[in-house]
Amino acid sequence: MQSFGRSTIVVCGGAGFIGSNFIRQLLAGHPKARVVCVDALTYAGNKENLKGLPARRLIFIKGDIANKALMARLVKKYKPSYGINFAAESHVDRSIHGNAEEFVRTNVLGTAVLLGALRDAKSLKKFVQVSTDEVYGALPLHSKKKFTETSPLLPNSPYASSKAAADLMEGKPIAIYGDGLYVRDWIHVDDHCSALVLALLRGEPGEVYNIGADDEVSNIALARRMLAYFKKSESDVLYVKDRPGHDRRYAIDASKARKALGWKPRHYLNKSFKMTVEWYLKNGSWVKRALKRAGVANAHI
Ligand SMILES: NC(=O)c1ccc[n+]([C@@H]2O[C@H](COP(=O)([O-])OP(=O)(O)OC[C@H]3O[C@@H](n4cnc5c(N)ncnc54)[C@H](O)[C@@H]3O)[C@@H](O)[C@H]2O)c1
Repeated sequence: MQSFGRSTIVVCGGAGFIGSNFIRQLLAGHPKARVVCVDALTYAGNKENLKGLPARRLIFIKGDIANKALMARLVKKYKPSYGINFAAESHVDRSIHGNAEEFVRTNVLGTAVLLGALRDAKSLKKFVQVSTDEVYGALPLHSKKKFTETSPLLPNSPYASSKAAADLMEGKPIAIYGDGLYVRDWIHVDDHCSALVLALLRGEPGEVYNIGADDEVSNIALARRMLAYFKKSESDVLYVKDRPGHDRRYAIDASKARKALGWKPRHYLNKSFKMTVEWYLKNGSWVKRALKRAGVANAHI
């Protein structure tokens, strides 16, 4: 199937980073489809991310996916054909130093409640659960090995995810964990979302699809690229104490998604780095409000 037609798609966690980009892409590419976005608007959720989208085709419900009665009502009322779940506690430092129970409540219980409600929806054709490469654990730094869909799950923290440092844009040094040699596979959010759209349309029920761009870059290399962009020196890097259980390397083998979904990424960090940094610079007030909501004084990579 190539199009959602007039379908209703429930998007949980759609006010967050990836979810909001997914909704934008879906509504733009499928002009008859309707989205029901359920988001608890935690520190990470921001309704502003959905600004400018057509109210006629986007119903926003502030709510918790772990709320059984709400999810049952929603399914009954909107009769969704598709569902996708982005709702998660996703900040690794909070999971280690903060309230790990919140992670279990949303990521485990919330998903179970959501699945229970959708299972009862006779209208449902397909559901996609968005996960993370970190469920596979860590890879050795100098190896060619990548995670495939059959790799065993070996997570090393309640949630491990690193996000770009907005600090430098405020004239602060970039805080780097440990030696900074941690390697991640970077993917543009638009490419991630196009893979998810295809997973909903073409994915086989019960299958796992790894999504990655084969674009491995270490944190320190990325920080140096930022330094070069801002014409700053190496002295603007602040090495901070390492995070417990910090995974050395993640790399995803996305060949199954490429073949089975007919997907390929269009952006690579080399080219899209400048565009991404400039988006954040242009949207400085959005960044300030997002950091304030998250109570972030320093972001580390
Ligand atoms: N951002 C990444 O680099 C990355 C990498 C791999 C996987 N992922 C996964 O992708 C998904 C989306 O990530 P993101 O970066 O957009 O996250 P995010 O933190 O920006 O957004 C999560 C959204 O979920 C909402 N939410 C949290 N708890 C909720 C609840 N109980 N009920 C309803 N809504 C709730 C938040 O308000 C927020 O809008 C997550 O499942 C995450 O684990 C993200």
